[in-house]
Amino acid sequence: MGLLICSCLARFVISPRKSIKIVGTGRELPAKVLTNFDLEKMVDTSDAWIVERTGIRERRIADEKTATSDLVALALEKACQQADLKPADLDTIIVATSTPDTVYPATACWVQKRLGIVGSAAFDISAGCSGFIFALEVAANLIAAGTAKKVAVAGGEVMSKVVNWQDRATCVLFGDGAGVAIVVAGDGHSGILSSNWGCDGNLAPLLYQPAGGTRLPTSEATVKKMAHTVHMEGNQVFKHAVRAMGGAALKALNDARLTTEDVKLFIPHQANFRIMEAARERTGIPPEKMFVVLDKYGNMSAATIPVAIDEAREQGKIKDGDIVLLTAFGTGFTWGAVVLRW
Ligand code: ACO
Repeated sequence: MGLLICSCLARFVISPRKSIKIVGTGRELPAKVLTNFDLEKMVDTSDAWIVERTGIRERRIADEKTATSDLVALALEKACQQADLKPADLDTIIVATSTPDTVYPATACWVQKRLGIVGSAAFDISAGCSGFIFALEVAANLIAAGTAKKVAVAGGEVMSKVVNWQDRATCVLFGDGAGVAIVVAGDGHSGILSSNWGCDGNLAPLLYQPAGGTRLPTSEATVKKMAHTVHMEGNQVFKHAVRAMGGAALKALNDARLTTEDVKLFIPHQANFRIMEAARERTGIPPEKMFVVLDKYGNMSAATIPVAIDEAREQGKIKDGDIVLLTAFGTGFTWGAVVLRW
């Protein structure tokens, strides 16, 4: 009883470490749907295997002309509309992505170009599937420091263009999409109550794209070996993902002096339903509080969390004052978690 009172009080008394407010969200998903049944015709797999092992039923696939910045720009416009802002009002655009339009400049620069705006700082964050959490943390710190006032925090990916469509172990997992949150200074009530992030670079070879960088520049040989596509040790990734996502979420919750009772919605990175479930069980959050879009979209890497946030808001599942717990894990290996009071 005492604990319950403490946790209820904490929910209302604790001031956010960083007072920010998300005033608009938006998402963009390509129209083309690729189902598990479609994949059965492409590689030696089955709907039953994919659903049982991953929880994914279908994913969206960008057309040939669409790059990550196109999806982000469209999601950003929707988020700005909701925030009653114009893209030109933003002073910072941060795009979390592992599938940039080009090696350089950053995808955020192409977003600016597409939107026809100039002047805002625009840069990318490369932290794999943890990218949106990293970008949100950076945005909150820029706002706290007075460096930025109106920030678009985006997660966008066109994974379909870096996947080996002959490799059944990876091609069934990923999808394309983008989500954006418009972040401004808060009123002292809403914001980040606690957060943590980290990386173990020793694990980098377990999930990476070998070619196309300065270690292994693109050549005829790398293309022949499909070295420009996703390479992953699925089992290893799985084990580390469960540990890192669950651990980061629990730490964030404890640091915020909250319990699972206080959490309105749990939005983990959506890579595999079994990973999400294991992370949820580690934190003790009941199943009905976990928000899932994985079945419809697959693993959209940095885009999964902002897309899920936008859908949850649209469905009325996040309201002012609600506690939302985000957690992610990605290539690097990176991880992070954020407790937000909306
Ligand atoms: N269809 C049918 N069979 C398949 C498929 C497929 N699509 N893919 C693999 N198999 C086979 C394997 O060849 C293997 O066959 P074998 O026993 O004859 O050798 C069998 O299924 C079992 O393979 P496992 O790899 O052991 O299957 P597992 O249960 O581990 O599931 C999976 C594989 C889904 C990839 C899982 O390991 C996983 O989800 N890992 C994490 C992946 C991930 O989340 N990556 C991204 C995270 S970070 C980020 O988002 C960037």
